[in-house]
Amino acid sequence: MAIPVFNSHGVEIPVLGFGTSQMGDCGALVANAIKIGYRHIDTAWKYHTEKGVGEGIRAAGVPRNEIFVTTKVSHEYLRAADFARMVDESLKNLQLDYIDLLLVHWPSPEKVPLAETMMALAQAKRDGKTRHVGVANFNIAMLEDAIRLCPEPIVNLQVEYHPYLDQTRLLAAVRRLGLAMTAYCPLGRGRLITDPVVAKIALAKGKTVAQVVLRWHLQQPNVIPIPRSSNPGRQAENLNVFDFALSDDEMKQLHALARADGRIADPSGRAPAWD
Ligand SMILES: NC(=O)c1ccc[n+]([C@@H]2O[C@H](COP(=O)([O-])OP(=O)(O)OC[C@H]3O[C@@H](n4cnc5c(N)ncnc54)[C@H](OP(=O)(O)O)[C@@H]3O)[C@@H](O)[C@H]2O)c1
Repeated sequence: MAIPVFNSHGVEIPVLGFGTSQMGDCGALVANAIKIGYRHIDTAWKYHTEKGVGEGIRAAGVPRNEIFVTTKVSHEYLRAADFARMVDESLKNLQLDYIDLLLVHWPSPEKVPLAETMMALAQAKRDGKTRHVGVANFNIAMLEDAIRLCPEPIVNLQVEYHPYLDQTRLLAAVRRLGLAMTAYCPLGRGRLITDPVVAKIALAKGKTVAQVVLRWHLQQPNVIPIPRSSNPGRQAENLNVFDFALSDDEMKQLHALARADGRIADPSGRAPAWD
């Protein structure tokens, strides 16, 4: 089954992606993911998986223009010259002619003026190195600044989002701005898998816990989960989420799992004041 797309400012993004952090030499896993139907692959210079992602894309034998590839420039390289150099390095790692979506991985406005980084981000698009641009781990104020300062449209915000983390305010802003919100750590990096509330819903639906969690993301407009799995069986399981629906009550039960200590990615000195 072809994965549906979300349209953000005219950009079509497959609504379910495949994450590759902590995957190391991931060529064979990425090739398998594409062969079984994933069309949206998430990587970053920081993950050291760009090379494997490129290899996987070539090995899968699916035309390049049918795959949506996201990569990210790390927070140490947000000065204009560094940024441009890192985009070239990512393309070299990937061995691709272009990126589909280039993101700023984490903000660093105290060290580098956001205006400078946003000009560099736009320049990468204008140079044909990426088709689209966006940001990750920005709060609402930073996101609005980025949109104002970037001469090319910001189409995507990538942030952590799963049932243990309430992102109501951020998601409302993303929808108001017409962006896609990529949900990273959608399975809470595996923490959700043992949750009894999700397990009960999964049992009732004849689905797995991971499938219920990913379905919860997919039933929220603008949200695009990008689960990672190094296991081909679980890769397929995570893709098989388009043949059932959660009821309003089940969605509410999952939203009610949000808790104050639910956030996983919160690096001190890098994380902004979260909304
Ligand atoms: N922008 C950012 O700052 C940022 C930060 C973090 C992550 N990300 C992106 O988001 C992607 C996803 O986040 P994540 O990798 O941190 O965590 P995740 O996708 O929430 O969870 C991955 C973990 O869940 C397990 N898992 C996957 N499918 C499963 C299933 N069906 N049943 C049971 N366990 C399952 C995986 O184990 P197995 O491999 O053994 O299946 C792995 O341990 C990353 O890979 C990366 O691309 C971005």
